[in-house]
Amino acid sequence: MEASSKQKQVTASLLFAISISAIGSLQFGYNTGVINAPEKIIQEFYNETYIHRTNGTSISPNYLTSLWSVSVAIFSVGGMIGSLSVGLFVNRFGRRNSMLIANVLAIAGGALMGFAKLGSSYEMVILGRIIIGMYCGLCTGFVPMYIGEISPTSLRGAFGTVNQLGIVVGILIAQVFGLNVIMGTSRLWPLLLAFTVFPAILQCAALPFCPESPRFLLINKMQEEKAEKVLKKLRGTDDVSQDIQEMKEESAKMAQEKPVSFLELFRNRNYRQPIVISIILQLSQQLSGINAVFYYSTSIFRDSNVKEPVYATIGAGIVNVVFTVVSLFLVERAGRRTLHLVGLGGMTFCAVVMTIALNLKHLQWMNYVSIVAIFGFVAFFEVGPGPIPWFIVAELFSQGPRPAAMAISACSNWTANFLVGMLFPYGAKYCGPFVFLIFIGFLIIFFFFTFFKVPETRGRTFEEIARGFESASGKPGLSEKGPMVELTGISPAKEDGPGKALDTVDETAPSDPPAAAASDD
Ligand SMILES: *[C@@H]1O[C@H](CO)[C@@H](O)[C@H](O)[C@H]1NC(C)=O
Ligand SMILES: *[C@@H]1O[C@H](CO)[C@@H](O)[C@H](O)[C@H]1NC(C)=O
Repeated sequence: MEASSKQKQVTASLLFAISISAIGSLQFGYNTGVINAPEKIIQEFYNETYIHRTNGTSISPNYLTSLWSVSVAIFSVGGMIGSLSVGLFVNRFGRRNSMLIANVLAIAGGALMGFAKLGSSYEMVILGRIIIGMYCGLCTGFVPMYIGEISPTSLRGAFGTVNQLGIVVGILIAQVFGLNVIMGTSRLWPLLLAFTVFPAILQCAALPFCPESPRFLLINKMQEEKAEKVLKKLRGTDDVSQDIQEMKEESAKMAQEKPVSFLELFRNRNYRQPIVISIILQLSQQLSGINAVFYYSTSIFRDSNVKEPVYATIGAGIVNVVFTVVSLFLVERAGRRTLHLVGLGGMTFCAVVMTIALNLKHLQWMNYVSIVAIFGFVAFFEVGPGPIPWFIVAELFSQGPRPAAMAISACSNWTANFLVGMLFPYGAKYCGPFVFLIFIGFLIIFFFFTFFKVPETRGRTFEEIARGFESASGKPGLSEKGPMVELTGISPAKEDGPGKALDTVDETAPSDPPAAAASDD
């Protein structure tokens, strides 16, 4: 029965909507990766511009470095702003229209960077980077939310990975485009940075043909007929009663749930544990050291006497994409929690091998070991910490708190991203070849946290997962490990009527209405 309903659930309409929304992930990856390859060339432009403005004084290396760091890091600042603004858009304009509107930022940011050379202004690059960062911050909220809400429960995990796939493909495209035989030249770099405008236009043209999220229509807009129509098209079947039923249960509950603000996510006992899990999963993604590996891969490959280290870095980019695809198939079979554990464990192992190889660099064959270790590190990242946090967060929260929860976790991702970007160079300076020991420490901590605290969310409805947490926090006698134990077995909360869970909410919810940062007006 399960199999036949699954076949009906994947329709062209669903795939189209997912692909078009994934352009947002592609953009995030592209703009993450694009700035690294042409670094030297753009720095030359900064220098020339400075010389031109000061009538001949060349820029000091320190000033150039700080200008460049600002250009790179301001993207994360834009990302934080964007990720915190997700809630202002999704409930007001809907998920699809929010994605549509955000493209204004992509076009504005791309244009600013594209015309920076003509305008002889590095300020335009910096301004463009922060605007593009805001756009990408919004995308990291919109895309997984939209994909999660239009996908059938049984396939939510697999489709959730599409988002990560879009990101890694975007990074790879940026690496390839940045080669000096393509656009990584002093003449073409403005086009390389501005290229982000084209996918934005494509997405604008195609989004009107994608449906609005049925959850948004039914629950936020109370338009049941529209929601049903959308679901029938997305599922390719006339029997959408189960989906509607599931959403209605959520809706009925929401009518009694108070709107959830950022602050309340931490104050309310029902949300505290899921939000802490979400934040720590995000940190596990950033503090695993993946960005540091990408930062270092080129120089490690250069040490290994690889003729063109850039191509070896692209090799790592390809491993990245391939294993994201592999995890697409793994995720429904093995479950999120297991994959996250395997990913963290594998990364730890590869990081240990890498540390050994870095310290025995004088042995020629060790350099090949370090290449294999880096490819393995990237591969394990894409099995676990890469894709898993994206949808575990979406699955831990029901409709009410989800927008705020997604915004908080995305923001913590950007903050950690910013910190790793700022602090890693110092770590590398002081620890040398032992720098990965720091990440090994983090990886071990996150492994044990996941093992003891993170529930399996595979194949469960939002409701079931939420109830698992609620019933556990509603029973004061339970230890902190309570909800995990319940969620890994058949959830006892499943037999409870919605009323029971509601009582729990009412008891613990603060009586004052919260500042509605991410709620409906
Ligand atoms: C800036 O350009 C000048 C002239 O080409 C060069 O001598 C100088 O080293 C450059 N400065 C930096 C920091 O790259
Ligand atoms: C966090 O940032 C990394 C890039 O540094 C990205 O690959 C990942 O998908 C992001 N995750 C979320 C949930 O925003």
